[in-house]
Amino acid sequence: MQSRSDVIHLRAGGTSVVIDLTTPGFPAIIHWGHDLGLLAGPRLADLAVAARPQRVSGALDTPPRLTIVPLESAGWQNEPGLIGSRRGRDFSPRLGSVDVHDQSATTVIFVAHDDLAQLRLTATLSVDEAGLLHQRHTITNLGSDDYGLEQLVATFPVPHTARQLLDTTGRHLRERSPQRHDFTTGRHVRDSRRGRPGADSTLFLAAGTPGFGFERGTVHAVHLAWSGNQRIAAERTVAAHALVQAGELLSSGEVILASGESYTTPDAIGSWGDGLTALSARFHESLRARPNHPVASRPVTLNTWEAVYFDHDLDRLTRLADAGARVGAERFVLDDGWFRGRRDDTAGLGDWFVDDSVWPDGLGPIVEHVTSLGMQFGLWVEPEMVNPDSDLARAHPDWMLQAGGTLPVEGRQQQVLDLSNPAVCEYLLERLDSLLTEYDIAYLKWDHNRDLLDAGSTATGRAAVHAGVLALYRLLDELKARHPGLEIESCASGGARVDLGILEHTDRIWTSDCIDPLERLTIQKYTNIVVPYELMGAHVSGPHSHSTGRRHDLALRAGVALPAHFGIEWDISELDDAELDELAEWVTAHKRVRELVHTGRAVHADLPDASADLRGVVSPDGAHALYTYTQVTTSTSYPPGPMTFPGLDDSRVYRVSLASPTTRLGGSGQSTLAWAEHPVALTGLALRTTGIQAPVLFPEQLRLIDFTAI
Ligand code: DGJ
Repeated sequence: MQSRSDVIHLRAGGTSVVIDLTTPGFPAIIHWGHDLGLLAGPRLADLAVAARPQRVSGALDTPPRLTIVPLESAGWQNEPGLIGSRRGRDFSPRLGSVDVHDQSATTVIFVAHDDLAQLRLTATLSVDEAGLLHQRHTITNLGSDDYGLEQLVATFPVPHTARQLLDTTGRHLRERSPQRHDFTTGRHVRDSRRGRPGADSTLFLAAGTPGFGFERGTVHAVHLAWSGNQRIAAERTVAAHALVQAGELLSSGEVILASGESYTTPDAIGSWGDGLTALSARFHESLRARPNHPVASRPVTLNTWEAVYFDHDLDRLTRLADAGARVGAERFVLDDGWFRGRRDDTAGLGDWFVDDSVWPDGLGPIVEHVTSLGMQFGLWVEPEMVNPDSDLARAHPDWMLQAGGTLPVEGRQQQVLDLSNPAVCEYLLERLDSLLTEYDIAYLKWDHNRDLLDAGSTATGRAAVHAGVLALYRLLDELKARHPGLEIESCASGGARVDLGILEHTDRIWTSDCIDPLERLTIQKYTNIVVPYELMGAHVSGPHSHSTGRRHDLALRAGVALPAHFGIEWDISELDDAELDELAEWVTAHKRVRELVHTGRAVHADLPDASADLRGVVSPDGAHALYTYTQVTTSTSYPPGPMTFPGLDDSRVYRVSLASPTTRLGGSGQSTLAWAEHPVALTGLALRTTGIQAPVLFPEQLRLIDFTAI
């Protein structure tokens, strides 16, 4: 008989996780999802009995169970949770005795030993207040000789009804493009071997009922909070197991545990919901509960990159700063090009001294000018990188990651520093600390512009991505500790390092180098599944997109950037007064709604017509909401028909109004839109079910729609 103490129930934030301690090999999660309520003793035990599979012909006599760390020694014949050996011996770990080391209503820590292989495994599972399930495992070598670890991953069971997978892929200028697959028997694996997650990595791997969308369909997803190599995989077995695994992807010999040493996995985080909006709300709520989470009213940022590129000239940048202050910018970020030898992207990385051929009086004049205008000053850096054409590379060729004495193929004419070498981190800390001490710098844009290859340390001759990521996190923390209030943006050729590992140590991500608003609609939508808007940089570009060559009006460019951490990246020193006034209106519009955007619940609508996009943010109390409606392409419907608004409070009555600073509707031969002319007040329920007529717009036009409860 199964007793109640054999079954653990973790419960918080609308999520239940039930764990059976009696499954062969290691405990198994038998339920992850809906809150099951206060399960009384026998009902909890019965849940475990109900989950026991039958033995079937042609299979093992003990049916394999999907445990938290599935192992071959317990009959698991698919991907194991732990792989390693002692030079080939002890290749099949067997976790004999499992103790509940610690347990609360929301957390359990299991400690298990393999007495033969002399290993200890500690598995920590916890459900946070937002209902996210976190898993983190530690393996310790208790033997006297080395243990070579190849893999330790977190395993999440997903419902058998999950028949479709969603993940993201991408490239420079188009990160986080969604892709869907049938979730059939076998394994769907997303590896990242770029030393950073990479533009093509998946931000999450979701498994849900067929056709699940943002508004409905049960869906579970896993994200790995890690900024280095990683593997996320979904697998369905013939024995009706369905799972998602996530963990670090280790290179050969990268983690060799000497006697007494341990390896701990990154945090693997699982969320679920009825629809992706509910699933992503858990990530947002959990992040917002952190004591170090950036507060609302994120400063409007003017970044110099697309405005001047490498053309650093005090007069030009002073005029740009003046224009920024005039339109209401609150932070001015001096991008790439300010340090020694950096006249283009072929040289200088590593030499973090102000280039006195461009800045003869140092950065003082521009910093003082910016701060005298009431704006914060921010500075671009790319500390992990080095150009072979730099004093640093010439002085310390052994500081560059490499394998077998040969430097890797260059990327953007640069190589990567070995942060696992303490001397490298000391140098970087000294350089950055002295810049932050000398100048009034409130913000660092921390870039990382190439993938890693052959990332070996000359000190050990071994792969050093794992150690490098941990050293990076320590460096970021040390700078923040020395300079309280300093904010850091994680950028990597745009959005190639977007993960909740880096966001534990930084304050926002640069979502993409592509600021074409049409591309951004998709990039921001799928980034937003994990990352809340206040951590996601979105800038208004010039009318002509530098990355796609398309032209767009200001309402589209600014309207798409509005629900995010808003900024400007455009040479606005050349604009006339009317153009500056129009941009200032959008900055004001953002400031008016940023508290809503940065604290509210993000919703994305599943429209029946793919020619349009509808998304919004609803305030935590449901009293106010802002949606953007974008006509992406032409539609076959004309007029487009009604749009319905998910996410509002069903029982409230909302006054609905068009709120764009630019409100002229597109096209000739149209009548006016009745509800825009004669504002209506409707219940959240009516807005969710009956809806209101969508405006007739030209393609690539956007309108803001405001909802205020009365
Ligand atoms: C890549 C970034 O994504 C850009 O925003 C810019 O900072 C450049 N690097 C500078 O080299």
